[in-house]
Amino acid sequence: MVVRVATVAFEGIEARPVDVQVQIANGNVVFTVVGLGDKAVAESRERVRAALNASGLALPAKRITVNLAPADLPKEGSHYDLPIALGIMAAIGAIPQDALQNYTVLGELALDGTITAVTGVLPAAIAANARGHGLICPQASGPEAAWASQDIDVLAPISLIQLVNHFKGTQVMAPPRPAIRSAVGTQPDLRDVKGQESAKRALEIAAAGGHNLLLNGPPGAGKSMLAARLPSILPPLSPRELLEVSLIHSVAGDLAGGALTDRRPFRAPHHSASMAALVGGGSRARPGEISLAHHGVLFLDELPEFQPQVLDSLRQPLETGEVAIARANHRVVYPARFQLVAAMNPCRCGHATDPGFACNRQPNARCIAQYLARLSGPLLDRIDLHVEAPAVAAADLMLPPPAEGSKEVAARVAAARAIQVRRYAELGLPGIGSNAAAPSAVIEAVAQPDAGGLALVRDASDRLHLSARGFHRILKLARTIADLDATERVGSLHLAEALSYRIDTTRQARAA
Ligand SMILES: Nc1ncnc2c1ncn2[C@@H]1O[C@H](COP(=O)(O)OP(=O)(O)O)[C@@H](O)[C@H]1O
Ligand SMILES: [Mg+2]
Repeated sequence: MVVRVATVAFEGIEARPVDVQVQIANGNVVFTVVGLGDKAVAESRERVRAALNASGLALPAKRITVNLAPADLPKEGSHYDLPIALGIMAAIGAIPQDALQNYTVLGELALDGTITAVTGVLPAAIAANARGHGLICPQASGPEAAWASQDIDVLAPISLIQLVNHFKGTQVMAPPRPAIRSAVGTQPDLRDVKGQESAKRALEIAAAGGHNLLLNGPPGAGKSMLAARLPSILPPLSPRELLEVSLIHSVAGDLAGGALTDRRPFRAPHHSASMAALVGGGSRARPGEISLAHHGVLFLDELPEFQPQVLDSLRQPLETGEVAIARANHRVVYPARFQLVAAMNPCRCGHATDPGFACNRQPNARCIAQYLARLSGPLLDRIDLHVEAPAVAAADLMLPPPAEGSKEVAARVAAARAIQVRRYAELGLPGIGSNAAAPSAVIEAVAQPDAGGLALVRDASDRLHLSARGFHRILKLARTIADLDATERVGSLHLAEALSYRIDTTRQARAA
């Protein structure tokens, strides 16, 4: 006789149905697991054996075969422990045969029979709900599973024994409640930054439209400080975005206590980060920093210090909003619509732009061009706002704090973002939440400049050697500036400001 238990395998952030088939037959005493599992799946036999023993259930002295179907879908991870154990328990009569019929099961077992947290519970719960199933998952992941739907039946036991008692009816478990992570502590406030008015303005525009930003200035000017204050002005995630972001963080095992949050992600990997850490992949498929920054910010401090290949791997996701990772036997796609915010010094020593400073190795201009040449033209072309953050004078630092803090800026950003969300929803594009994410054809229609603006762009496109991409990026930026202004039409003032943030990448390349 074969017992079947439903579980899932993850492909990117999708949970694909997997059938765990357990057969107990007479013959040699062996316990085998087949079905294209990885090392963690092979080792699950030992955990299952020990956990059943600890729960007072010995494995029968028979031939136990476990098949994970479909056999051609790779299975990774430790979450197959629980469905395998429950399949065996049903086969030996420790739980009723039909108890598992309408459940999808996932969880890892500890040797003492407790059920430990696993990654991917949220996508698994959504997949289970779509199949009309309930979900059996670890207790720690219960609050995450409860998000899948209001009436999904979630059983989140702490141990095998608790689950057995539940099925017997001696100890009925309470359903878990969806948890929200409350904002922990206070965030640093934009009010702490003295001076740097143009950098603050650029930060506000970037937050309002989801545009890519590069801050360039000498060490100690407050670039890292400004970037650290970006989360305090970003608009909260919409419910739709919240779900997408949480799915990725669930698969990455990044949802603390199974609680979701409407804060936009802000990821700041160190410049020594590897390609796998940044874009995803590695021996086990895992979303990288760019996917964890989906619908949020990827902050790369000291941008030229990142490995050039790592930086160039960002080019394609910056354009498409997703990243495809080829593995040995399959290919996974993770969403990665992130906003790139970066900071850099103008040159290696950092002071080439200081007034009166002369580099003693070579002319300042050359020093600057060489450092900038570490960044490829195509990457720079994808950055909409290039902003200088000059050193702040001591006299400025002694001024009283600015009147305007994060709260005021956040309110303007939220208003501008609301205009964008409404605009794209009215155009039948509810998935697009910012100007930066709008397709070129749409942006041409919604950012139609007036006559003066058109003349400006025509003029600048020669001067700045604008690519087609550059042109569309200028329109998007000007649209955001107009949205901050709450004006319907993109005017020449908006376009002029947008153009002022653009650099000529071909000239930089020639100077180096
Ligand atoms: N504009 C500023 N206003 C107030 N403090 C500043 C400013 N710029 C720098 N500082 C001080 O200098 C420190 C270093 O700034 P940081 O942002 O790390 O510089 P950068 O990243 O540009 O090298 C900050 O922690 C802060 O104490
Ligand atoms: Mg810094």
